[in-house]
Amino acid sequence: MTGSSDQRNLIETAARIFPGGVLSRHKLDDDRQLVFVSGRGAHVTDAAGREFLDFTCAGGAVLLGYDHPGVLAALDAQARRGVHFLGLLNDTAIRYGAELLDVLPIGGQIRFCCSGAEATFNAIRLARAYTGRDRVLKFEGAYHGHHDYGMWSYNRFAADAFSPVPNSAGMAAGIADDILLAPYNDVAAAEDVFRREGPTIAAVIMEPVQRMTAPAPGYLDRVRDLASETGAVLIFDETVTGFRIALGGAQERFGVLPDLAVYGKSLGGGLPLAAVVGDPDIMALASVEAWQNDPRGVFFSGTLFGNPMACAAGRAFLDALRTPDAFPPFLARAEALKSGLAQILGKHGVDAHIVGEGPMWRLYFGDPDRIHDVRTISDKDRQRAFDLGLLDSGIFVRPGGGHYFSMAHTDEDVEAVLRAADRIAARL
Ligand SMILES: Cc1ncc(COP(=O)(O)O)c(C=O)c1O
Repeated sequence: MTGSSDQRNLIETAARIFPGGVLSRHKLDDDRQLVFVSGRGAHVTDAAGREFLDFTCAGGAVLLGYDHPGVLAALDAQARRGVHFLGLLNDTAIRYGAELLDVLPIGGQIRFCCSGAEATFNAIRLARAYTGRDRVLKFEGAYHGHHDYGMWSYNRFAADAFSPVPNSAGMAAGIADDILLAPYNDVAAAEDVFRREGPTIAAVIMEPVQRMTAPAPGYLDRVRDLASETGAVLIFDETVTGFRIALGGAQERFGVLPDLAVYGKSLGGGLPLAAVVGDPDIMALASVEAWQNDPRGVFFSGTLFGNPMACAAGRAFLDALRTPDAFPPFLARAEALKSGLAQILGKHGVDAHIVGEGPMWRLYFGDPDRIHDVRTISDKDRQRAFDLGLLDSGIFVRPGGGHYFSMAHTDEDVEAVLRAADRIAARL
């Protein structure tokens, strides 16, 4: 049974049992709260029975849409064979791991885990064990998950772009000494940090496309060279870019290979699955033998690692992506949406720009010459106003956030967004 009162009851229960009435940091305004009860294709339905055309794509996790038949069949078959077997070997995880190493440019070896944060945390731990160094260079504005090495200067900034600011209370203050910060897309700044601190840097972790912003030409190559010259481990956090901007993610799109890469979000076909992939010499430190006998051995383990349900869904996901006609129409539709939006904004004289690499986008109200710079932030109020207009038109987006495109979206869905955007831009 669904209905407005049912939805209200559920929201009240959530407010009572969950801190802040939420499952995570994601929260809608109080007067727009809703509870999802189903997702079909590119559509979601709330407990009041309202249907939305969805562009959150579960934060990018459901790249094929909410109920891809291949994923559903794989889940059904796996559920009948067992939903988990400790972190001991299971056939589904082995097959998926091998298939992934066939398609991911970085190759090497793979260790599954359950979330993007777990993967970035363990990639950093591996890099520190491998290099015998402690420090981690990250880029201002980048997000790598909730842990104490990731949550620095994600959306709170110091006066200068080199001093890390904790994004949460409860982070051990001592860790700040091991965090180096640099502005993204600024070659001179990266060179400067490496010149000063190079021999102390264990890991350079970056979103190759930071949030939605593409790297400047040659930027990733230069960071790659700086890491190699100083012996630091370069980690690409491909949690967002992996399988999305190309089958081989940012590595394929920009032709730069890191030492380790991290995947998550869509990797498990919508189920919780993430992985660290890369250089076999570094990955070898995660073996049980290394952990027990080698002073550099790393503990990288979890009860639900290699979960066969998530790996079964992942295999079906990868199968769908590997069909030759998967990416061209997907990327073309996303481009049609973005160029259509840009045209509409221009037609109505709205001084906003469309930011986003491949099948992701957001509106940006600010200086177009500094879109690469997280400090020149968008006029958030206008960005939210536009997104709330989409919500009120039945198009579900995260107000003020970035939006994802899925392979379940159609030309008609693009048209629906453009029609709504035309009405909203006229008002703005
Ligand atoms: C680039 C990037 N890295 C890491 C993470 C953390 O992943 P998770 O939320 O699965 O811990 C995210 C999540 O949004 C992300 O976008």
